[in-house]
Amino acid sequence: MNLIAAADSKWGIGRGGGLLASIPTDMKYFRDHTMGRVVVMGRRTLESMPGKKGLPGRTNYVLTSDRDLTAERCVTVCSIDELREELSKYDPDDVFLIGGATLYNSLYRECDRLYVTKIDADLDADTFITDFDEDPDFEIESESDPVHENGLTYRFTVYRKKGK
Ligand SMILES: NC(=O)c1ccc[n+]([C@@H]2O[C@H](COP(=O)([O-])OP(=O)(O)OC[C@H]3O[C@@H](n4cnc5c(N)ncnc54)[C@H](OP(=O)(O)O)[C@@H]3O)[C@@H](O)[C@H]2O)c1
Repeated sequence: MNLIAAADSKWGIGRGGGLLASIPTDMKYFRDHTMGRVVVMGRRTLESMPGKKGLPGRTNYVLTSDRDLTAERCVTVCSIDELREELSKYDPDDVFLIGGATLYNSLYRECDRLYVTKIDADLDADTFITDFDEDPDFEIESESDPVHENGLTYRFTVYRKKGK
C-alpha cells in the first residue's frame, strides 16, 4: 500500500474539515498517481469531496463506523480488519491511502511508499499527521526541486519503508 498527502512545515494537512491550500500541479500529481487505482479514505475526507462522492475513475473505499453509510462510487468498510480483507484482493502497489489524519496515522506503517507534497510554510492547520522524518523505519527515496506556485514553495518527496 502507498500513502499520498500534502503537508505543511508542521505536518499539518487540514483546517476546518478542508485542505490547507489549492495547488493545481499537486492535484495533477495526485490524479496521476491514483487514477485507475484503489483509494482508501476516512468518512470525514469523503465528506470533504465534491458532492460527498467517491473519486471518479478509481475504486473508492471509505472507513466509517456507520454501517448504513452509502456514497456514490464508494464501498464502505467498518473496521481496519474488514479493510485489510477487502484490500487483499488488489496488488498493494495499486492501493493509495488518501487521508485524512486518522487514516494516515493509523495505517502509514503498513505502507511501503509515502508520497508527500511538502509545503514550505506554516498554513495554520488544525489537523496533523506524524512527522515521517522522525520515523526511523522510513527514509527519503527521492525529492523534487522546489516548485513555486500560488505563492507557495513545495517539493514532491517520496519516503520508502527501509528494506522495501
Ligand atoms: N492534505 C492532505 O493530503 C489531505 C488528504 C485528505 C484529507 N485531508 C484533510 O484531513 C482532514 C480530515 O481528517 P480526519 O482525521 O479528521 O478524518 P478522516 O481520517 O478523513 O476520517 C475519520 C473518520 O474515519 C472513520 N474511521 C477512522 N478509523 C476507523 C476505524 N478504525 N474503524 C471505523 N471507522 C474509522 C471514522 O468515521 P465515523 O465517524 O463515520 O465512524 C472517523 O471519524 C480534513 O481537513 C481533510 O481536508 C488532507
